[in-house]
Amino acid sequence: MELIIAANWKMHKTVAETVDFCRAILQNEALFKDVEVLICPPFTALPAASDLLRGSSIKLGAQNMHWEREGAFTGEISAPLLLDLGVEYVIIGHSERRQLFGEDDSRVQIKMKAALENGLKPILCVGETEAEREEDATEKVIKNQLFVALEGLSAEQADSLVVAYEPVWAIGTGKAALPRDAETASSYINEVIRNKFGKEAVNKIRIQYGGSVKEDNIGSFAVLSAIQGALVGGASLEADTFSALIQAARKAVLS
Ligand code: 13P
Repeated sequence: MELIIAANWKMHKTVAETVDFCRAILQNEALFKDVEVLICPPFTALPAASDLLRGSSIKLGAQNMHWEREGAFTGEISAPLLLDLGVEYVIIGHSERRQLFGEDDSRVQIKMKAALENGLKPILCVGETEAEREEDATEKVIKNQLFVALEGLSAEQADSLVVAYEPVWAIGTGKAALPRDAETASSYINEVIRNKFGKEAVNKIRIQYGGSVKEDNIGSFAVLSAIQGALVGGASLEADTFSALIQAARKAVLS
């Protein structure tokens, strides 16, 4: 399966900074062969990124969405509004949304359904906190998150799904998971997917690792059989650093 490497910029970059980044990354586009690369800027920078990336192989994702198509939802952005800008992917259930904005599994579930019904490809984030890890509850947490998020979806709908395994304690800490732990968690995600949608689904759904991914460590995740990419925060903010990270992943997979 093709690697999928996504930049989650979180709440970073003005329009001018986005333009600079997109121009710079487009210079390196030819080096990303066989890797699906996408950028998830803040909502305000989506139009500029969309204009610059149109016609290139670099795709666009959003960091969140509301589940209704339109209505009196002050401050929210819906799937049709994202599609209007050429957005193809949407991150759903990021741990920062769960922890800082009270997004629970039932919210994640209706967003997943709305994304897929509207033709957006979800990147569903799952992962345990430090305390849950210490309690040896990683699998239980992942299973619960997946069960609720995937409830009511058909195997066909699930085909376009990406699951990001992001242990909360590894995000922004510089302390990435050990590759063997990421592989164990991702294999478990595959097991849950197989039980729910059948074995064909495991060959279609891609799993990313996220949490302190950098040029230096991406290779050790990209080569793992249960992992097909990364969701990158801090190391995706500079075009040079992000390009180097993508090339390091490619090199690791090809060698
Ligand atoms: P960092 O790469 O900065 O640890 O962030 C990971 C993340 O949350 C991506 O969604």
